[in-house]
Amino acid sequence: MPIIAPSILAANFLDLKNECQRLNASEADWFHLDVMDGRFVPNISFGIPIVEAIRKATTKTLDVHLMIVEPEKYVEDFKKAGADSITVHVEACPHLHRNIQQIKNLGIKVGVALNPHTPICMIENVLTDIDMVLIMSVNPGFGGQSFIAHSLIKIKELKQKINKIAPQVLIEVDGGISLDNASAVMHSGADVLVAGSSIFHSKSPEETIHQLKKIK
Ligand code: DX5
Ligand code: ZN
Repeated sequence: MPIIAPSILAANFLDLKNECQRLNASEADWFHLDVMDGRFVPNISFGIPIVEAIRKATTKTLDVHLMIVEPEKYVEDFKKAGADSITVHVEACPHLHRNIQQIKNLGIKVGVALNPHTPICMIENVLTDIDMVLIMSVNPGFGGQSFIAHSLIKIKELKQKINKIAPQVLIEVDGGISLDNASAVMHSGADVLVAGSSIFHSKSPEETIHQLKKIK
């Protein structure tokens, strides 16, 4: 069964409390929180105060996806705000090994994200140090984009590598995931499905989460 992580970016921010309560009552496993800085990605989303507020509204796992430069300046604050896991981008971290250790030392889970053009080999030497790899299946920065088909090949390649050297590492896939492609993503080797628009813009987010959860 996939771990389902709805992306709050697509929620109604004016009604965030209610959106959180609906997710709490649903089969969603994690809350995926997209933090964007207008530097690493061409968009600004939300930051520490929103993570803090959402922490008060749920006991589910807060999966914080940092699309920011110099994440080392902020990871401690995000942990204090309530993050259960922090994912940083390999492209934003010239000292990735150090960034990973810093997050681990905070006592939370650590993930590393790869943009669509970034090859798997970029994280080979840290695979045994991390809890999760996030494969971006769109270019980060915006919700509602189309899934990049090549991501499936990348997920398969990563799955093979993980099976060989770090079988406990989860594969999270993020961007353009819907009921139409979720099964292909799972069959390629994903463990965690992030979905924003396809959940929040559907008639019934709860039902869409239920359908995603059923995918084998
Ligand atoms: C993109 C974000 C994604 C996004 C997913 O930069 O990292 O998490 O919110 O949204 P959808 O599912 O609409 O592509
Ligand atoms: Zn994300």
